[in-house]
Amino acid sequence: MKSAVMMSVLLVGCGGATGSSLAARDSGGLDETSSIDTAVPIDTAVPIDTAVPIDTAVPVETAVPVDTAVPGDVPPVAPAIPMGKAALIPWLNARKYADFAPESGIHASTGPHGAGVRSYVNSALAASFAAGNAVHPVGAAAVKELYDGANTLVGWAVEVKVAADSAGGKGWYWFESYTLDGSGKVYADGTGASVCTGCHAGGKDYVLTPWPLK
Ligand code: HEC
Repeated sequence: MKSAVMMSVLLVGCGGATGSSLAARDSGGLDETSSIDTAVPIDTAVPIDTAVPIDTAVPVETAVPVDTAVPGDVPPVAPAIPMGKAALIPWLNARKYADFAPESGIHASTGPHGAGVRSYVNSALAASFAAGNAVHPVGAAAVKELYDGANTLVGWAVEVKVAADSAGGKGWYWFESYTLDGSGKVYADGTGASVCTGCHAGGKDYVLTPWPLK
């Protein structure tokens, strides 16, 4: 009995000690039960489960070659723009160019592009402009929304650089439709469209939109 009292006095005396010294004393005194408790945190750590997401991450690395495969000459930053009306019209209607750098709003066209226009340049063209390039890289592209007098979207003009040499406009793909579904007259749908290249030859490597974008 006396020794039990001594123990409790000792334990009370340890009340001010650190957690670790208490734990050490607990595991010494309560042996098996406390050693099972001690084992639980080790299970909780389950580093093997934690490692599983690292394996799961591997498919992301697997995806990289897919991106790497896209370019060719095209900068990896340039999203693929489908060329040819059949693929381009759905792409435009889905606003796949929404991540291009936009002009701040609709403004009057200084060219023949309808009442109001708003241009968007892709990251490759924006980077090329920012670098002050005289010649834009393959993959540089611009989409111009065409509006009627009531600021209703009625169509698009598109140009995409497809060869390092602009070659009088043959190094660019040109497209223009004044209907959203492409059912009306399409003014260009191919490289080197002379109906487009005459004016655009006066631009910076066939791009007429002022930079920086307004
Ligand atoms: C009479 C001159 C002229 C003709 C012809 C012309 N454009 Fe343009 N284009 C412009 C001007 C000027 C701009 C600058 C924005 C504005 O004021 O509309 C422009 C802008 C564009 C843009 C935005 C990117 C850029 O270069 O600034 C695209 C895309 C475009 N035109 C496509 C075409 C296509 C496709 C054709 C042929 C079907 C065409 N353009 C014919 C004058 C012309």
